[in-house]
Amino acid sequence: MRVAHCVVLLVVMTSMTFAQDELAVRVTNLENHMMGLERRVEALEKVHGIEQSSVLCQRGMGNGAQEYPPYLELSDSTLQRHILCDTHTDGGGWIVIQKRATGDVDFYRDWAAYREGFGNITGDFWLGNEALHTLTSQNDYEVRIDVSVNGQEFYATSSYFKVEDEADKYRLRLGTCSGEVGKSLCFHNDLAFSTLDRDNDSWGDHCAVEFHAGWWFRSCHRINLNGRWAQPTTAGITWHDGNNWAFPNFTEMKIRRLPASTTGL
Ligand SMILES: *[C@@H]1O[C@H](CO)[C@@H](O)[C@H](O)[C@H]1NC(C)=O
Ligand SMILES: *[C@@H]1O[C@H](CO)[C@@H](O)[C@H](O)[C@H]1NC(C)=O
Ligand SMILES: *[C@@H]1O[C@H](CO)[C@@H](O)[C@H](O)[C@H]1NC(C)=O
Repeated sequence: MRVAHCVVLLVVMTSMTFAQDELAVRVTNLENHMMGLERRVEALEKVHGIEQSSVLCQRGMGNGAQEYPPYLELSDSTLQRHILCDTHTDGGGWIVIQKRATGDVDFYRDWAAYREGFGNITGDFWLGNEALHTLTSQNDYEVRIDVSVNGQEFYATSSYFKVEDEADKYRLRLGTCSGEVGKSLCFHNDLAFSTLDRDNDSWGDHCAVEFHAGWWFRSCHRINLNGRWAQPTTAGITWHDGNNWAFPNFTEMKIRRLPASTTGL
């Protein structure tokens, strides 16, 4: 009987070891399968380059603080440029489209420069009107502006953001504006873009030259984020807070793709 017990025990132990081995094999298989899927997702994102920046930027949403640094750089093959994602502001998922933080780049540029974009995501930059049009004509976006004035932070948002095509002079479309200077942001709704060589404003004179920037001018502005660096005048980087002109020394404009459900598709 004792021998029989031992045999039974041995069989049980052997089958347990076997079960463990089997489990390990299955886990390894699953891991390999997952890695394969991740590679396929990456490959698909490369094919659908337009999706790439919005999708990758949105991976930072929700748990961005744990998984990602506050900013993420990635390469968008369709736009053919490097994209800067803000993964920390209001849940993250933002594509940064304009930045003034160091004054390393001149923003007084012509129509072609604003169309193509200029600067570098490691410093100050304008993503480019054509890229903005491409992104915002594929999906619905919201926009947010963050600035700091004397070390204090302010923001403005619009529930919708679209840049029309070049034939329509990269006209700006906004939704409902809110935040500290939401009203000043919506002042620029439906306006065409103007640059030093293109006067598309509604003023007799040339806003882009007078205020030293490429922008969606009326006659002329409540916000001039592309104005001259470190110049506390309305031709500098400025926005109107309802009472006074403020002069930020840091600005970021960013857009985030809206969930498909809100697009009515
Ligand atoms: C952008 O900046 C990085 C880092 O400073 C540099 O390596 C790169 O050459 C720059 N690219 C352009 C187009 O200036
Ligand atoms: C912007 O202003 C803040 C506060 O006045 C200051 O600490 C910071 O160094 C300034 N940044 C630049 C780039 O001048
Ligand atoms: C836009 O600018 C161009 C070039 O300056 C000009 O020919 C055109 O009439 C302008 N359009 C509007 C609506 O101001």
